[in-house]
Amino acid sequence: MRWLVTGGAGYIGAHVVTALSESGIESVVVDDLSTGRAARVPFGVPLVRADVRDAAAVREVFRRHRPGGVIHLAARKDVAESTAHPLRYYQDNLDGLRCVLAAVAASGTRRVLFSSSAAVYGTPRRSPVREEDPAEPANAYGRTKLIGEWMLRDAAAGAGFRWGALRYFNVAGAAAPQLRDEGGTNLVPRLLRAAALGIPATVYGTDYPTPDGTAVRDYVHVADIADAHVRAALALAEGELHDEVLNVGRGEGASVLQMIAAVARATGRPLLFDAAPRRPGDPASVVASPVRIRSRLGWQARHGLQSIVTSSIAEVAKAA
Ligand SMILES: NC(=O)c1ccc[n+]([C@@H]2O[C@H](COP(=O)([O-])OP(=O)(O)OC[C@H]3O[C@@H](n4cnc5c(N)ncnc54)[C@H](O)[C@@H]3O)[C@@H](O)[C@H]2O)c1
Repeated sequence: MRWLVTGGAGYIGAHVVTALSESGIESVVVDDLSTGRAARVPFGVPLVRADVRDAAAVREVFRRHRPGGVIHLAARKDVAESTAHPLRYYQDNLDGLRCVLAAVAASGTRRVLFSSSAAVYGTPRRSPVREEDPAEPANAYGRTKLIGEWMLRDAAAGAGFRWGALRYFNVAGAAAPQLRDEGGTNLVPRLLRAAALGIPATVYGTDYPTPDGTAVRDYVHVADIADAHVRAALALAEGELHDEVLNVGRGEGASVLQMIAAVARATGRPLLFDAAPRRPGDPASVVASPVRIRSRLGWQARHGLQSIVTSSIAEVAKAA
């Protein structure tokens, strides 16, 4: 069975396509290359350059490639940009999903896996946060992901396909130089850039109610995220995953200062930082409960924090 991977030329998507190929699962990529790069797509995997908001183009891909399942990653992901341009995010993230779901409903495709995000929780009322806890996103990006989950659920009920939504926590690291994150706004790329330039990193908020005062997040290696997709795709195909939202995180938090220390350990040089005020909408602590994904997919993160940081540094160095 062939999987259609939207956004498969992006940072996470290319890791997913690579992991599918390594597991002997065929895929075809649709990507408009707005933030993705064709060179990330493994040799032998067809890449269709198209915008997923283009309904006719998406229908044509389904007609030509007849995917048995879809992994939908194509989206914009910059929280600050989503606050400045919310309607652009509603249009890009939700029109794209709607076109893909319309093509699924009109075709024989019976499985959809959706890239959701820990951003749907906003400021969690407890930590670790579980899937059944309230979803109260704090920004437009998170709201597009929550509405996306609702849209998926409704479309599946109407058309009768199976679905899964993976709520990734903070994705970092790289499995190979050409696959690394070039987005630059997430913490690990920001810290690495500061380290490479020999300038202090900016730490937003040093007065949070956390052990060292800086924000705590659940960092998860992108190779583990890719593995979760392979397992979820197989489980959807086997009928073992039914219409569920799953957290994808390690279940362990790390503060910004702990990440700075991990970068310093990996580079062998201290990394200084400047304290800046908290950014609006940034919660103190967001850590996943990985209990459900472990029970449904047998998934567990294999990479720890140092491996996440070291792989990012090694890959930046190799790619330079
Ligand atoms: N990186 C993270 O920490 C993180 C966390 C939670 C969720 N996510 C989600 O994971 C998915 C992938 O994120 P990423 O980090 O790989 O980002 P990315 O920007 O590297 O990848 C997104 C890919 O989608 C493509 N794309 C965007 N809009 C498109 C459109 N309209 N038509 C066709 N292709 C389009 C881009 O060219 C790119 O290749 C996104 O849905 C994102 O919201 C990411």
